[in-house]
Amino acid sequence: MTSSTSSSRSRNPSSGIRSTPDRSAFSPSFSSYTASTASRLGRNPVKVAARSIAGAFVACFTPPETDDSNNLKVSNEFGAPSADSETSRMRGPNRGIYSNSTKERAPGSMKFTMEEIFKATRNFSPAFKIGQGGFGTVYKGKLDDGTLVAIKRAKKSVYDKHLGVEFQSEVTTLAQVEHLNLVRFYGYLEHGDERVVVVEYVPNGTLREHLDGVNGKELDFASRLDIAIDVAHAITYLHMYTDHPIIHRDIKSSNILLTEKLRAKVTDFGFARLAADTDSGATHVSTQVKGTAGYLDPEYLRTYQLTEKSDVYSFGVLLVELVTGRRPIEPKREIKERITPKWAMKKFTDGDAISTLDPRLELTAGINLALEKILELALQCLAPRRQSRPSMRRCGEVLWSIRKDFREQSALDFRSLSSNSQRSASVKEQ
Ligand SMILES: Nc1ncnc2c1ncn2[C@@H]1O[C@H](COP(=O)(O)OP(=O)(O)OP(=O)(O)O)[C@@H](O)[C@H]1O
Ligand SMILES: [Mg+2]
Repeated sequence: MTSSTSSSRSRNPSSGIRSTPDRSAFSPSFSSYTASTASRLGRNPVKVAARSIAGAFVACFTPPETDDSNNLKVSNEFGAPSADSETSRMRGPNRGIYSNSTKERAPGSMKFTMEEIFKATRNFSPAFKIGQGGFGTVYKGKLDDGTLVAIKRAKKSVYDKHLGVEFQSEVTTLAQVEHLNLVRFYGYLEHGDERVVVVEYVPNGTLREHLDGVNGKELDFASRLDIAIDVAHAITYLHMYTDHPIIHRDIKSSNILLTEKLRAKVTDFGFARLAADTDSGATHVSTQVKGTAGYLDPEYLRTYQLTEKSDVYSFGVLLVELVTGRRPIEPKREIKERITPKWAMKKFTDGDAISTLDPRLELTAGINLALEKILELALQCLAPRRQSRPSMRRCGEVLWSIRKDFREQSALDFRSLSSNSQRSASVKEQ
């Protein structure tokens, strides 16, 4: 298997900037909140190439669904079932695969058979389909031991080679990481032209769905702050990963899954690459511009140089998304509000942070205070120059302290609210 380091350093003049249904078509001017940067990007050859290729890329990754369940039947050619095998016995959260580091296990111990995958998804039954993304189709499945999993089946496409690199990147990275706020990797399958990844099933939808309020999902301010901290912790972990800092590259609200208790789990390491070894001064340079429009670090777009600070930029966009509830790009709004980070930062620097607050949230003194501080942090994360952006670790620390102050202020808000209502009740009694 090609390591993601070597694959990421290969020079392939294609772009990974994608536009799935929750994304708008790529426009470099959307990737920064500074008009000057946008106009510079408008003349940048990276942008021109990225934009022209993005269309083809999007088209190639969004063909109509074919009913593959018809031509992919369980067959003996997929090898003996492994239900009684040692590997099957060890797999799953209750079976000890995470009791030791996954790094210590042979990669084979995480391999699934095609039969297991077919069984778990009832031959990729449309009834088990839970999503569709750039990588392919996502199914909910159940393993023999009852473990619920998400099964990501890569699309077969003309860009198979490219996809192979992406697939291997996802596998290599996922196999290494283990953190409460990162989606767990259970295994994978390579069979012929099938590429399947099996990961932890996270039951409560994406952060984007919650911000959109779909299916009655709602998020109060405290939960949004908790989620921001969870994500900061997850990304800090990736960036500080022993020996191999990992850059996520595609931090966005649809890649943040929520548990029933609204804890965040960051997913999708298909774009993850091993970061440059900062000690040696090496810089990661790749001509594959990847990520999602609206979240892309303008400096990365301009220079191809990928650092952890590109994730910090995307995290800044995410912070704005959390407090405003808006998507990074809102094409239907009037021009000055279309690029949400640009609009929110302008409001904030004009001293009008309050008007950026998600209208679904009721303004309290605690929220007012926290909102200002979160936007201040977002402003730093969105700095055009990466040197000016804080580290992800610093973001976590700042958010932690914002949450502490928010909780104290909310307790005060609550006390004054209840003493007010007591007072008005006693006035009524008199
Ligand atoms: N581990 C999981 N647990 C539960 N649902 C999941 C899981 N992974 C993905 N999904 C669902 O499948 C959908 C598609 O996921 P996928 O990652 O393929 O696409 P995406 O995040 O929308 O876009 P991208 O390809 O850029 O990541 C998600 O929006 C989510 O609803
Ligand atoms: Mg995703």
